[in-house]
Amino acid sequence: MIAATSGTNRELAETFASTAAEKGHEAEVIDLAEMDLPMFTIARTNNPEQTPDISDLVDTMTQADAWIVIAPEYNGSMPPTLNNALAWLSRDWQNFRTMCTGKPVGLATHSGGGGAHVIMAMRQQFSYIGADVIGRACMSGRDKEANPETIDAMIDNLVR
Ligand SMILES: Cc1cc2nc3c(=O)[nH]c(=O)nc-3n(C[C@H](O)[C@H](O)[C@H](O)COP(=O)(O)O)c2cc1C
Repeated sequence: MIAATSGTNRELAETFASTAAEKGHEAEVIDLAEMDLPMFTIARTNNPEQTPDISDLVDTMTQADAWIVIAPEYNGSMPPTLNNALAWLSRDWQNFRTMCTGKPVGLATHSGGGGAHVIMAMRQQFSYIGADVIGRACMSGRDKEANPETIDAMIDNLVR
């Protein structure tokens, strides 16, 4: 479970993780906001002292059979924590490609509105990097709780 923020989206990630655990799967929540990676710039990539060690993140993501990416909508798109993490991860582009290609990915959001735009943005992003994004997504917001049946079905679709 890759949570882009530490609030309601982290909570939703925990719900996905506990549901997966109830089904007998091992599940881990990664909180990208808590990780607090520096902003990706080319200048930083050229300076080892300013380059974050993301080896644990890479190992966890590589070993996972599937990812569920859980992010709020920001200005009709993805929040910067997610974009930034992907930029750092893609620096080692050969490993990045291997890690992403064919990875089953589910998408979820808790946003101010419905979150349809961030789901579309993530669908495009994760498809582009070679992942197999499943059709069903979990959308929730101020006026709509996450549907437990959707969470259940997404986990069953991702890990058989
Ligand atoms: C900079 C910023 C931009 C936002 N833009 C949108 C938006 O375009 N659409 C929307 O539905 N909610 C938007 N929101 C609201 C967040 O999606 C919402 O508060 C979300 O639940 C925050 O997630 P969190 O509790 O995990 O931090 C925005 C919030 C922030 C801080």
